[in-house]
Amino acid sequence: MPRERTRTVFLCQTCGHESPKWMGFCPSCGDQSPLVEGPRGSRSTRQGWLATISESPRELSQVFPNEQERTPLAFGELNRVLGGGVVPGSLVLMAGEPGVGKSTLLLQTAGYVASTGSKVLYVSGEESAHQIKLRSDRLGFSGQGIYLLSETDVDEVVQHLEHSRPALAIVDSVQTLYTQDIPSGQGSVAQVRECALRLMRWAKARAVPLFIAGHVTKDGTLAGPRVLEHMVDVVLHLEGETLSAYRILRGDKNRFGSTNEVGIFQMGGKGLEEVLDPSSVLLSQHRNEAIGSANVPILEGSRPLLVEIQALTSPSILAVPRRIANGIDYNRLLMLTAVLSRRVGLNLSNQDIIVNVVGGLRIREPATDVAVALAIASSLRNAPLSPGMVGLGEVGLSGELRTVPQLQRRLNEASRLGFRRCLLPSATGEDAGGVEGIELIFSPTLSDALQQCLPGRKVSQTSDPLDEFVEERV
Ligand code: TYD
Ligand code: MG
Repeated sequence: MPRERTRTVFLCQTCGHESPKWMGFCPSCGDQSPLVEGPRGSRSTRQGWLATISESPRELSQVFPNEQERTPLAFGELNRVLGGGVVPGSLVLMAGEPGVGKSTLLLQTAGYVASTGSKVLYVSGEESAHQIKLRSDRLGFSGQGIYLLSETDVDEVVQHLEHSRPALAIVDSVQTLYTQDIPSGQGSVAQVRECALRLMRWAKARAVPLFIAGHVTKDGTLAGPRVLEHMVDVVLHLEGETLSAYRILRGDKNRFGSTNEVGIFQMGGKGLEEVLDPSSVLLSQHRNEAIGSANVPILEGSRPLLVEIQALTSPSILAVPRRIANGIDYNRLLMLTAVLSRRVGLNLSNQDIIVNVVGGLRIREPATDVAVALAIASSLRNAPLSPGMVGLGEVGLSGELRTVPQLQRRLNEASRLGFRRCLLPSATGEDAGGVEGIELIFSPTLSDALQQCLPGRKVSQTSDPLDEFVEERV
């Protein structure tokens, strides 16, 4: 007699790996949490999916894309990240930490589409219709054309979608959905995957764009279901410190456009507003000659943006001094502190160090290394950097400065905002080109950069201006 096949498998809650037997960790991604029992992907699911794409094969040359099909949405910044508007039938995942503004952005998008005379279905498993109404009053639209549904059963949701046929559908959030066909709890990998699949099947079959909100965990990954990122067409990440006003919308995956684009928003009393000239906003309170402050032109996607990095050092009362990184990577700060101690000779071993990016932005680029190091040294020496200057360069472990990409764009932005000097790694050489009105200063090492940029005291030819802070020379 043939053995009956197991109906369940064990799933990793992080990467979705399936195993026929239970294990205490995931052999695929190495996650140390035990696998959770869930149903095997059923055959009917596959047949249902195939039914929606029952076209015969077409030659590529016979396929005529229609750019006009994209629907522009409320904000230019959102359209930019989507690649010029939303494509019919696309499944867009709006990911972000709780409280960052996903529901606000989605409701504003719904409000805009409804104001053009189209019908929007807004499904919320998190908020009641009453709460959404309060929010829409605050955002300042009447709500005509927006149909609300407080429902968490995905099959019911699909039925309502099929029945009402909106021009845009929004589901907030995917973690609150469930289907009775799967025994595991709401928000588990199996549930989230199956619910997203059912929504996707509907969206593709009816060519309706569908936005789903998804929460991310503290470490920035989508809660549980990485599988979701593979499934959807577009993954947008809304980032920013909840307490600060600025939000960055990043395209992490886009089947219909570039992932190099970012949108910049500001959270205010009437929801999110786009920020059209972010550099000047971020630098509006900028004072020349501020101690512990350095400016750097970063690139957010393909967009140059001038940001101010501030550092504060203060004598520590703890045996192990604290390092606090707001907006930059913590490990990067530890690395720069180590380079400043060992290669430059600054005594930071008894100092607490706090680094902050003004405006609450999060920066990932190594091109900001020099600016962070300059800000720390400036605070330690209690002397401002030379006025009107920006610093660019990645710092290596031996204290050398490395070149950064797309210099011309960054220099243009610095020049536009009135900066007159730029510190660059010597290795940049001819590549720097040059921008009118900006004097270029080249440095081979971080140590040399500090000497050039912190001219606070008179320097004799033989003595190092930083000697008094030297702990040990290497
Ligand atoms: P929300 O969209 O609910 O976040 P998410 O869906 O990502 O969890 O937004 C939450 C925050 O936004 C909340 O702390 C209040 C703030 N907010 C404003 O500052 N102004 C506004 O007009 C709105 C609607 C929200
Ligand atoms: Mg929400």
